[in-house]
Amino acid sequence: MLDLFSEIEEPEREELKALRKELEEANYKYYVLNMPTLSDREFDEKMHRLQDLEAMFPDMFDPKSPTQHVGSDLGKKGFEQVKHKYPMLSLANSYSREEIEEWVRKLPSNVEIVCELKYDGLSISLWYEHGILVRALTRGDGQQGDDVIANIKTIPSIPWKIDRADVPEFFELRGEVLLPWTRFEMLNKEREEQEEPLFANPRNAASGTLKLQDPKEVARRGLDTYLYYMIGENLPGKTHFERLETAKAWGFHISDAIKVCHSVDEVMAYIAYWDTERKNLPVATDGIVLKVNNLAQQEELGYTAKTPRWAIAYKFPAEKQLTLLKEITYQVGRTGVITPVANLEPVQLSGTVVQRATLHNEDFIRQLDIRPGDRMWVEKGGEIIPKITGRAERETTDPRLPSTPSFPSNCPECGAALVRVEGEAAWRCPNESGCPPQIKGKIEHFVSRKAMNIDGLGEETIDLLYRQGLLHNIADIYDLKLEDIAAQERLGEKSAQNMLAGIEASKQVPWSRVLFALGIRMVGETTAKKIAKRYTSIDTLQWATAEQLCAIEDVGPQIAENIVRYFEDIRNLEILSRLREAGLQFEAGESSETVSHSDKLQGQTIVISGTFAQHSRDEYKEMIEANGGKNSGSVSKKTSFILAGDNMGPEKRKKAEELGVKLLSEEEFLGLLG
Ligand code: IVH
Repeated sequence: MLDLFSEIEEPEREELKALRKELEEANYKYYVLNMPTLSDREFDEKMHRLQDLEAMFPDMFDPKSPTQHVGSDLGKKGFEQVKHKYPMLSLANSYSREEIEEWVRKLPSNVEIVCELKYDGLSISLWYEHGILVRALTRGDGQQGDDVIANIKTIPSIPWKIDRADVPEFFELRGEVLLPWTRFEMLNKEREEQEEPLFANPRNAASGTLKLQDPKEVARRGLDTYLYYMIGENLPGKTHFERLETAKAWGFHISDAIKVCHSVDEVMAYIAYWDTERKNLPVATDGIVLKVNNLAQQEELGYTAKTPRWAIAYKFPAEKQLTLLKEITYQVGRTGVITPVANLEPVQLSGTVVQRATLHNEDFIRQLDIRPGDRMWVEKGGEIIPKITGRAERETTDPRLPSTPSFPSNCPECGAALVRVEGEAAWRCPNESGCPPQIKGKIEHFVSRKAMNIDGLGEETIDLLYRQGLLHNIADIYDLKLEDIAAQERLGEKSAQNMLAGIEASKQVPWSRVLFALGIRMVGETTAKKIAKRYTSIDTLQWATAEQLCAIEDVGPQIAENIVRYFEDIRNLEILSRLREAGLQFEAGESSETVSHSDKLQGQTIVISGTFAQHSRDEYKEMIEANGGKNSGSVSKKTSFILAGDNMGPEKRKKAEELGVKLLSEEEFLGLLG
């Protein structure tokens, strides 16, 4: 009998464990990597399910469970970690009038509720001692955070000093750091011009900005704050509202949208008003926060392990639309992952027309029983690529409705049998060296800025040369002939010459970047640098065992295995041999790996713009600093000169002309440094 019960319980126990793992990972991706994978709603639903399961199985209690602690953004280096005087908690979420009513029911009767906007940035805790800003801590893991005061001091609306007699000895003011919409769009435009990855939303952009090691760049990007909570000993005021008024009088940026409400009706009216009106605000908001106004009542209500009982968030529904699913197609990514794509009847969503959205993976299609002809919910969420989040109920069970299409068993591009790695949701095409998008993806990676930095060989040109049969792998690049390239439509003699110059210059790219450029799975830029430091030539690396590789910082068994396998593949060895013959740097040369130091640029402020043939932007930045100069992101009167590459940003060029700032080419700059 007992056995029978435990067998029934088993799947739920497994579900509990799986949910813990999934939510832990989602927290990490959200807080540390700034790459959200779940929508807030999905996250909350999974968290609720986990809470229920944990209540069912008290013997599985674990203090490390995501239900017991808030997500953590720790993990970035370079900032002092400081323990919070008061833990920085999260807020419980609600999505409906019913949930708000339920929360209100647990409060003392006739309670006053302060309604505020819920700003979608990241929380910050400002410490003031004798009126002076002494620390600015991120939430971190809720118990300790990173002190990012140098970056916070770049925000004009945050006072460094409050010169007033009524300021207490110590107080802490908490709020949200945000990148306003206009700044976010400018930043992404700039990043697009410079071929850097775009930020998915202002929250991610603000988070990335706050963790930069360069306050000047932070200042340039233009963060702002809204403050919403004062805490400390012997502070003035008996209510939350009074405290915020006081903070406003001391010069802090407090929102004008705060309202004291006396009933759920009033709260709902506030929500209804701001759900529309928030679209006119300069910053992103994702809900409303309700707080008990009276501080004595707040204290009585107290806290759970993760959230105050005296406050709750109401989340606005994400903007979504229903539209017809016309067809499912399958896209092969650069790493061979197959993504099912919903081809939709075009629909307006958050200001753009959407006609394609990701269907995630096979399990998603099966679980929702998705078929062409269905009406699907599509959302933009925080990500740039729209996604399908659900299926509308079918009105009829029309027998003509096509059945759920089966996931292809062969690659739609090259026909190879697909494989699904155990534990992964995605199907993959294993034909790395014979599948067109993978071949082109490898070449695109090889020529990219941070790898071999070959100018003039963009996505379209690679596609063209691939189709002409001139480019099949990275070694073919070094066999390209002027006449072959120049003979192509759209590619004249001039661009052929540029391309060949870029290819020639790439032969000087140092060993660590060559290693990164090879595109060994999971060997990113930083890992490649670390490996190249330990193995200073390809000949030594080629014979390294997985065990030896694992001794390198950042190299785990999976990466080690990938490297060993790479060198076992005869096709790779052939390519490497051709690359060696072409003259690529397969060992660390002294001159190429080290930047020389001098004070030739002492006192000069230099702006880098455009793209370069001989070194990457990061290398030029390093050179400027190593020679005593300062890097700056924007052109001003103080700019000494601009290091101008190809395709310099038009805004910068215009500004330089207006201010009479001179432009130096790559060659002139290198000449200057001798
Ligand atoms: S009060 C102890 N008020 O939302 C409670 N939080 O999801 C302190 N947030 O970590 C938070 N706007 O970063 C509060 N008006 C507001 C807010 C707000 C945004 C953020 C905050 C918090 C998160 C919880």
